[in-house]
Amino acid sequence: METMIEKPKLAEVKVSGMAEHLIGSEILKIAGEVNEKIRKGEKIYNFTVGDFDSNIFPLPEELKNDIIEAYQHNQTNYPPSDGVLALRQAVSRYLFATSELTYSPSDEIIIAGGARPIIYSAYRALIDPGDYVLYPVPSWNNNHYISLTAARAIEVEASAANNFMPAAEDIKPHIGKVTLISLCSPQNPTGTMFTHKGLHDICQLILEENYRRGAEGLKPVYLLYDQVYYQLTFAGTTHYNPVTMFPEMRNYTVFVDGISKFLAATGVRVGWSMGNKQIIDKMKSIIGHVGAWAPKAEQVAVAKYLDNIPHVTKFLGRFKENLYERLEEFYKGFTQLKEEGFKVNAIRPQGAIYLTVNLELAGMKTAKGDTLTDSESVMRYLLDEANVALVPFYAFGASGKSPWFRLSVGTAKVNEIPDVINRLRIALQQLKA
Ligand SMILES: Cc1ncc(COP(=O)(O)O)c(C=O)c1O
Repeated sequence: METMIEKPKLAEVKVSGMAEHLIGSEILKIAGEVNEKIRKGEKIYNFTVGDFDSNIFPLPEELKNDIIEAYQHNQTNYPPSDGVLALRQAVSRYLFATSELTYSPSDEIIIAGGARPIIYSAYRALIDPGDYVLYPVPSWNNNHYISLTAARAIEVEASAANNFMPAAEDIKPHIGKVTLISLCSPQNPTGTMFTHKGLHDICQLILEENYRRGAEGLKPVYLLYDQVYYQLTFAGTTHYNPVTMFPEMRNYTVFVDGISKFLAATGVRVGWSMGNKQIIDKMKSIIGHVGAWAPKAEQVAVAKYLDNIPHVTKFLGRFKENLYERLEEFYKGFTQLKEEGFKVNAIRPQGAIYLTVNLELAGMKTAKGDTLTDSESVMRYLLDEANVALVPFYAFGASGKSPWFRLSVGTAKVNEIPDVINRLRIALQQLKA
């Protein structure tokens, strides 16, 4: 009798539970679909990514030259794991000049390869598996950092009535069990900002809780305060930060900051954080082990550039004007469509590079007889019929039924905005209730 010899089987590839459950960026997924259409030759107005078309919004010329010069001077070996001293000093001076914040370059500032490694290392330094992290929805990427650190999320739904900024009363019911509150102003995706009172009340809540925890010898509540857009504010709005407002917040606040947005330098990869030196020291070790440093030549160049505040101010003046012009044009366009009777609207832009747009189109029927059921179908309809690509707020953790969308102006050409609005008008005219 013949015996069957079982073929030995090599083990199949299996990844960690964390990696298994990690999902890619929803925004980049949508952007990928849009790029596929562009690759096939379609003309798409792509307002999805929080990035700049660097032919429309190039780096400051001096910074570009400084980077080239740094490479020519062979600044190409490992940087120190907390960043080159000259850059930490320049950041410290720049922070004082722009915000009156006083952070020591020797142990309270760390440099990394953009803002993302700062966020990751802050989560890692502060969060134990199972700890609660509270953040508003919509917001940018907190869900992914939660997955990476096995934290538990408390999502606070922010509404249009509050300009999509979370309020102290939203946070209060959860404050007793939270380890980290992650906030951002000006906020991605909404382009809206904390008012003085809004941030003041949240800080007060955190401090009250930390007095309680202090008395009981417990780990405090921390605030991750992402201000990467703080220099991109418009129309008389003011950016507030927790530490200038309440010096007692200093020990509990970890700032997220960097050049990606305010110098139109998303690909240059230089970010930084300021905070309590014990926390910064741990973030330094984490960033060091990951090797998520900013490239050394870029660090040397940014140090030189930031120290020339008149250059930065001049660049920012023009850059902000150009961004605001686009935001305002789109805002006016959507307001006009609203006045024409379409179910669309927008929130007046305050900061960052985003316009928050409301499209109450779910339930309407297309000319082909399909019904728009949710924000994803609205997004696809506008992409197919108007060739305009926006990101629904579900990509930022809001419900799929949310009628809100993010429009990023980083790739917008001013002279094309009337055509964009007209294409939207034609697509909207084809919809029936
Ligand atoms: C609020 C916010 N924080 C951080 C980042 C990441 O910045 P970086 O490109 O420097 O990693 C972004 C990028 O979109 C952002 O919108």
